Amino acid sequence: MANSLFRTKKISTILSEGSDDPHGGGGLKRVLNMRDLTFFGIAAILGAGSFSSLGSAVFNGGPGVVILFVITAIACAFTAFCYSEFASRIPVAGSAYTYAYASFGELFAWVIGWALIMEYSIGNIYVAFSWSDYFTSFLDKLGEIMHMNLHVPDYFSNSYVEVKNALKAGSTNPEILSAWNQAPMIGGLRIILDIPALVINILITYLVYRGVKESRNFSNIMVILKLAVVGLIILVGGYLVFSTGSTHNWLPPDDTGVKNFMPNGFGGVMMAVSSVFFAYIGFDAVSVLAEESKNPQRDLPRGMILSLIICTVIYILLTLVLTGAVNYRNFEGVGDPLSFIFEKQNLNIGWMQFLVSVCAVVAMTSVLLVFQMGQPRIWMSMSRDGLLPPVFQKIHAKFKTPSFATIVTGLVVGIPILFTDKTFVLDFTSIATLFAFVLVCGGVLLIPRKEKIPGKFNLPYINAKFIFPLIIIGAGALASTLSKNYFADKMDFSFEKKVDAFTDMIPVANMDTISTSAKLEEYLVAKNDPDSAFIQLTAAMKASPDAASRISIATDFGSKYNTTQSRTTKISLIIFWLLMIGLAILTVIKNYSLIPLMGVSTCLYLLTGMSLSNWLWFGSWLLVGLVLYFLYGFRKSKLNTQKG
Ligand code: ALA
Repeated sequence: MANSLFRTKKISTILSEGSDDPHGGGGLKRVLNMRDLTFFGIAAILGAGSFSSLGSAVFNGGPGVVILFVITAIACAFTAFCYSEFASRIPVAGSAYTYAYASFGELFAWVIGWALIMEYSIGNIYVAFSWSDYFTSFLDKLGEIMHMNLHVPDYFSNSYVEVKNALKAGSTNPEILSAWNQAPMIGGLRIILDIPALVINILITYLVYRGVKESRNFSNIMVILKLAVVGLIILVGGYLVFSTGSTHNWLPPDDTGVKNFMPNGFGGVMMAVSSVFFAYIGFDAVSVLAEESKNPQRDLPRGMILSLIICTVIYILLTLVLTGAVNYRNFEGVGDPLSFIFEKQNLNIGWMQFLVSVCAVVAMTSVLLVFQMGQPRIWMSMSRDGLLPPVFQKIHAKFKTPSFATIVTGLVVGIPILFTDKTFVLDFTSIATLFAFVLVCGGVLLIPRKEKIPGKFNLPYINAKFIFPLIIIGAGALASTLSKNYFADKMDFSFEKKVDAFTDMIPVANMDTISTSAKLEEYLVAKNDPDSAFIQLTAAMKASPDAASRISIATDFGSKYNTTQSRTTKISLIIFWLLMIGLAILTVIKNYSLIPLMGVSTCLYLLTGMSLSNWLWFGSWLLVGLVLYFLYGFRKSKLNTQKG
């Protein structure tokens, strides 16, 4: 049994099963060249991450979030090299899934394929929601210009879960309130749903169903348009940052009043991991187009790396423009940051606001398109291997597209639009994609080295025997220099314990406020805690005028020190360093190659920024995937049915 779980597929078999040996009525059309692939990369990368989630990233990390963009770009670049190595060896559809099949074996391949559903389909739910946000605000602005009412009712442009959660959290946002209060009712149920998000999903599904050629032309035009507008934002915004002398925003004061590029510390920067990483997802989507490209071995790697470089430069410049134009604190709850900086109270350029909202709609449409094309192609590969039912590899006789899988993708994106919200899908997508990236880079470590072949992409082999252990020792030393007691702090959970003990005493709704507040104060005085956070808290409690304000200080303290998150981060970092030590030892023994090693390490590091609930949801998702595998794929796998 154990052997069967790790059965691998031979690269020669994978290649012979590609489109050159068409299954059931012909393979996919080979029409894409390097420029198309690069454009596909940009089409997939530049989207909701920059137009929408960049706002919360900047709010959490301040201008210092640029550092996270650089770290993430480095992680993605290493990963892109690994994808390229695989793509040049195995130029067939399926992406990371196919690569894992050749290196780690069937079980891991299935797990990756399962995780990629998060990247391709669930990620598109976030993009569809963001698309809807910008589309409705575009309609509002157009309505203003044309003196017409083009407003989509709030109950038809927000998701039910988002409205419900916002109200639960005490939101006073007028859009949320109006969505809830004005929603039509059917049998006691409020009808709140994001119609634009659903409609765009249906349109995109139709377009992808019709065929890649049409989609390619459409996509290329959209990419040119969005690059032009993003360029304009950088130029106009950048010019205004300097000409209005707002460059001081790059060093905003932190809580203690000291000018700081990272006003919320590195912890604040790392809180933006999901948003920043989401912005980079997409370069890997290029690899699923292997069967549709004219010269995949040469063009896939180039297209992927080129699109990644272009987008990285754009992100760094955009973040600098954003954080220069407006103080980072003003980005709280801002879902349209690129248009927000041009609002009246900020840079005050009305026409830019309009242009950005048009461009955002275009940018996100192209992201939707690329991912919606990617998912069916992965399923098609899984079906070829027997891990999914044969119907997933059905290719449309006329359009030459994986028709059934395309429709299922439309449903997998469309149905959850009714039941989820943006934050949830953003986190879910990022954790699953990072996980898949770790496995891809790990896979490159395991496949045997190949001879250099001229004209093909060759991942340079750099023996990391000594370099990698040195990098790990250097990184550890740097961490300890930048933050004294770095490693000791990671193993010490006493602060979290104290905060929990304290916040446990904060009353729930019906308790007597006065007596609880007195108890809190008594507790602090009795403890006489030497920790500076507790000294400050005790002083603030003593200085506050009444019981209610003492309760509020205590509650703020509890939420400022999110102990679940800090415990999760510490445990993740301990595991990370242990893994690094293990990898370093293995590298000394096995002479591993440096680039994939760095890919594994940097992606694992980014995973340390994920929250506990994120890990739990992702773990459950994997569990469901494993159950399905053992019920179906394990038995139906071609490696099982055709053996001997
Ligand atoms: N990187 C893609 C986006 O930001 C997923 O929309």
